[in-house]
Amino acid sequence: MIQRSVHLRNLIQSSSIGSLSKLRTCKFFTSQAAAASLPQVCEPSVYSDEEYADIDWNNLGFGLMPTDYMYTMKCTQDDNFEQGQLSPYGNIELSPSAGVLNYAQGLFEGTKAYRREDGRLFLFRPDQNAIRMQIGAERMCMPSPTVEQFVDAVKQTALANRRWIPPPGKGSLYIRPLLMGSGPILGLAPAPEYTFLIYASAVGNYFKEGLAPLSLYVEDESHRASRGGAGGVKTIANYAPVLKALTRARNRGFSDVLYLDSVNKKNIEEASSCNIFIVKGNVLSTPATNGTILEGVTRKSIIGVARDLGYQVEERSISVEELMDGDEVFCTGTAVGVAPVGSITYQNKRVEYKMSAHPMCRELYSTLVGIQTGLIEDKRGWIVDIN
Ligand SMILES: Cc1ncc(COP(=O)(O)O)c(C=O)c1O
Repeated sequence: MIQRSVHLRNLIQSSSIGSLSKLRTCKFFTSQAAAASLPQVCEPSVYSDEEYADIDWNNLGFGLMPTDYMYTMKCTQDDNFEQGQLSPYGNIELSPSAGVLNYAQGLFEGTKAYRREDGRLFLFRPDQNAIRMQIGAERMCMPSPTVEQFVDAVKQTALANRRWIPPPGKGSLYIRPLLMGSGPILGLAPAPEYTFLIYASAVGNYFKEGLAPLSLYVEDESHRASRGGAGGVKTIANYAPVLKALTRARNRGFSDVLYLDSVNKKNIEEASSCNIFIVKGNVLSTPATNGTILEGVTRKSIIGVARDLGYQVEERSISVEELMDGDEVFCTGTAVGVAPVGSITYQNKRVEYKMSAHPMCRELYSTLVGIQTGLIEDKRGWIVDIN
């Protein structure tokens, strides 16, 4: 039987973090009534102190496994989000004319909570997701939570769902913050009300290949992003348009699609949900992010780790031909981790990469995981302890 004993209110009060700045956001409110109802708040405020949820931790994939609680915070009359709250995970109510439903005025983020061998729980660089959401909100004409509000909310969500944080080495708790225009709007304009919502799911490997090398298909018909568009931010509007190419590629046995730049159609950009790196000799290269590529938190972290290890790292244009001539290729992302690429297929030509016994990607990933698990000193303050 689930034992309920720890007060959620205490949890909320004990989880505030240091003060961090807020970027400027758009202000386009009307006097229209709020449209999305808040879910019922947890009363009496308790959550389970059971150590683990009763699930098979050995077979986690990347599917939705709803957890106990979600977090909601609203912004109505000005740029400020009011005090957020945890509530049982469940459906939300939205006006049919909500900005997010009609005009895709929405953003999402993805970060993870982990459990260490000693039982301690931590987050990895959640401030970076907060900042990325602020930049995306500016692009999508939405107000956004402050970095402090964002990180505090992620922390509360992780703690309230702590029994869903997998045992060390079995996976992590994927935390999905959303920011959406929840207010009603008919003519094309920013919504009159915004909702910030976080839910979570216990996850294992993202790709069905597990840790096996990925096979990527280079898409040369459709593009993920264009210059001046919103490819550089994590708007929900960027994801449905790739489903067609992704589904086609998956049906043909590929793991993911690699997109080319829409101007020259010859430089690689990124995959559907991860960034890409190429190794040639001792040099690590990745496409420069010039507004069409999402600046991954993992990408940024791997660049930092590689430089610390003494590798030369270049952010620049990389042609698909150069990619196919690489010694090693790998993808990075919060969901995918650091995943080696085994083959690339471009215009009916397939190249396979030799899998070396000591690939650079493994060294980089084990260093990153070492920092996360505490085996390597965290000199940069990337780890946020949430116990
Ligand atoms: C399009 C795209 N590129 C790259 C990434 C990797 O970003 P991160 O390392 O922050 O998860 C993601 C995942 O969020 C993504 O959706």
